[in-house]
Amino acid sequence: MANTATLEIEGKKYEFPLIEGTEKEVAIDIKTLRGATGGYITLDSGYKNTGSCESAITFLDGEKGILRYRGYSIEELAEKADFLEVAYLLIFGELPTSEQLEKFHSDIKAHSVVDDDVKKILDAFPKAAHPMGVLSSLTSALTAFNPESVNVDSEEDMYNAIVRLLGKLPILVAWAMRKKKGLPLYYGDSSLGYVENILKMMFKQPNEDKYVQNPILVNALDKLLILHADHEQNCSTSTVRITGSSHAGLFASISAGISALWGPLHGGANQAVLEMLEAIKEDGGDTKKYMAKAKDKSDPFRLMGFGHRVYKNFDPRARIIKVAADEVLADLGVTDPILDIAKGLEQEALNDEYFVKRKLYPNVDFYSGIIYRAMGIPVEMFTVMFALGRLPGWIAQWREMRLRKEPIGRPRQLYIGETERSFKSISER
Ligand code: CMC
Repeated sequence: MANTATLEIEGKKYEFPLIEGTEKEVAIDIKTLRGATGGYITLDSGYKNTGSCESAITFLDGEKGILRYRGYSIEELAEKADFLEVAYLLIFGELPTSEQLEKFHSDIKAHSVVDDDVKKILDAFPKAAHPMGVLSSLTSALTAFNPESVNVDSEEDMYNAIVRLLGKLPILVAWAMRKKKGLPLYYGDSSLGYVENILKMMFKQPNEDKYVQNPILVNALDKLLILHADHEQNCSTSTVRITGSSHAGLFASISAGISALWGPLHGGANQAVLEMLEAIKEDGGDTKKYMAKAKDKSDPFRLMGFGHRVYKNFDPRARIIKVAADEVLADLGVTDPILDIAKGLEQEALNDEYFVKRKLYPNVDFYSGIIYRAMGIPVEMFTVMFALGRLPGWIAQWREMRLRKEPIGRPRQLYIGETERSFKSISER
């Protein structure tokens, strides 16, 4: 492989080093571009061709449909690991031993409390508030109750901040849902596994002595959380890294990530998929009509849950989740007309020239909402569940960014506004 790239501007040549990653991906290192060329920058809206960092956490090959956390394939992790093991792997780089995992879990449990005053903040939100707004606000509010800043040069400090967040966020998630459903808040059960406890915190009814776990649901949620746990430099993760790059705290950085995840082009897609399927059902179930709308460039409608910025092949997470969705629906005996519409749309899109040509396949969010709905999770909570799964990835990326002492994120721009002009007083305008 050549080790430099040459850029020619007005007859003058500039050399830039090529850097190769462990999976043979190659980047042109343009760190010296502005200085060397006297001010030229690159322009890349949406960062479609821009590597923002070097990272050792997640490898993704969108053309081949490969996703690996720390070298382990998503298929193997979804089948053999549990969410907490995956969280440890993502954050610290290696699978935990049983002692490490046990300590990790008990340290998380030790922090599975939220200051009672946080309840007052939750109370102040209207019942109709979107739980993503609630979650992002409460996560940010945690800073007020845990004001000491993390010394990133201390492994112990870093570890404590991480287990604290992993302990507290599920409580906020469960509370956001209980508030929506009008249920009293509940703290959870430290005798349970991480995911089992989340289910109990969300679903335990006030009149219920014993909450009975359904192993199929525990397994499905565990898988869903694993599949969402990291996805390299996506919109919310980049937001977490860029927020943290100003040395804002961990809670503040994660809160920013939750806000970025909220949008329908990113994590909000799972809610948007369900709403779209409902709308198609209400409209008589004519999938062809909606396929035509999705292809019509004068119509803003898009098939939610289809397409991905990096996967130009089947999203490997979608394959796994599709099987899990079938299992959950069979176990719960759910026959959902929404599912038939989903399957119909999927078949049509996979055989449609517009979708095939643009390599638009179903993504992870096309199926996740179907499982969440069958589990009894309200539609507005779907993106919150995504945030819960993505938490270890955000933490891992924040930790990596701080340990590598990355500089503050601060892109350039190409200014296209007015050139200098003189101020006119109001009577002259
Ligand atoms: N329905 C119809 N047409 C689409 C769709 C869609 N869902 N997605 C992309 N296209 C078309 C788009 O109109 C464009 O056509 P043309 O080349 O003729 O102009 C072409 O495909 C390329 O699309 P793009 O918008 O340039 O691609 P992008 O990489 O900027 O956007 C995306 C990726 C995920 C935002 C987009 O595919 C989309 O809006 N999908 C629906 C929302 C969705 O499901 N998002 C969840 C992503 S998975 C969860 C996560 O990881 O965040």
